[in-house]
Amino acid sequence: MTRSDRTELSNYAEELIRGRRATRAFRSEPVPEETMRAIFSLAGAAPSNSNAQPWRVEVVSGAPRDRLAASLRAAHVARRTSVDFPYGDDIYSPVQQERRVAFGSRLYGTLGIGLDDHAARAAYDAGSLDFYGAPHVAFLFVAEQDNARLAGDVGAYMQTLLLAMTAYGVASCPQGLLSFYADDVRTELGGAAGKLLVGISFGYAEDSAPVNHIDTGRAALGETTTFHD
Ligand SMILES: Cc1cc2nc3c(=O)[nH]c(=O)nc-3n(C[C@H](O)[C@H](O)[C@H](O)COP(=O)(O)O)c2cc1C
Repeated sequence: MTRSDRTELSNYAEELIRGRRATRAFRSEPVPEETMRAIFSLAGAAPSNSNAQPWRVEVVSGAPRDRLAASLRAAHVARRTSVDFPYGDDIYSPVQQERRVAFGSRLYGTLGIGLDDHAARAAYDAGSLDFYGAPHVAFLFVAEQDNARLAGDVGAYMQTLLLAMTAYGVASCPQGLLSFYADDVRTELGGAAGKLLVGISFGYAEDSAPVNHIDTGRAALGETTTFHD
């Protein structure tokens, strides 16, 4: 690889990685099957411990997607939640909590919802169980065993998948919320194997929606990374 090839590749990588963003308004138009196969095939190139590839991926579209959304809404109304990986505010450190609040104020501010308006925030979250209007959703399961290292591998798969989608012009939103209804998801999928880590809604972005243009920002490099030399 020549130096100019490398520069070109790093420029593409900057554009690809920084160009991906969580999308929360989609057009209804489906992603063609051929594009879908190319994306999921590329995502499979993700690295994992000993190349064990401990992921199971279930992609849902069309009538099953609509049935699943209805079932999640019903579970939400019935307050019937089930998680494979425990979750709560207490998993976050104070600095992480600050970042969450900063993100929340950007998101809900853009939506015109006050940070203290818990009812409106809850209604928005409940609405997101319709996958933000996306025509497709992919569920990522940690296959067979429940172990943090295997879940880490599935995290690597997730980011590879999100970038593959970005490269093919497909927008996405990882939704941890969907994993709060693991049993309902399993039932609708006819009993998928493994533990549900996350659902990823995807399709083509509704570019005119302000919610799709939030600048979330990131911690400064020195806050997260130390170079020892
Ligand atoms: C594992 C995971 C779970 C997430 N869960 C949700 C979710 O339930 N609902 C949502 O709207 N966004 C969710 N997000 C999106 C994050 O809010 C978003 O990635 C973060 O704020 C950074 O913004 P960006 O992706 O646009 O750069 C999730 C992201 C990840 C990686």
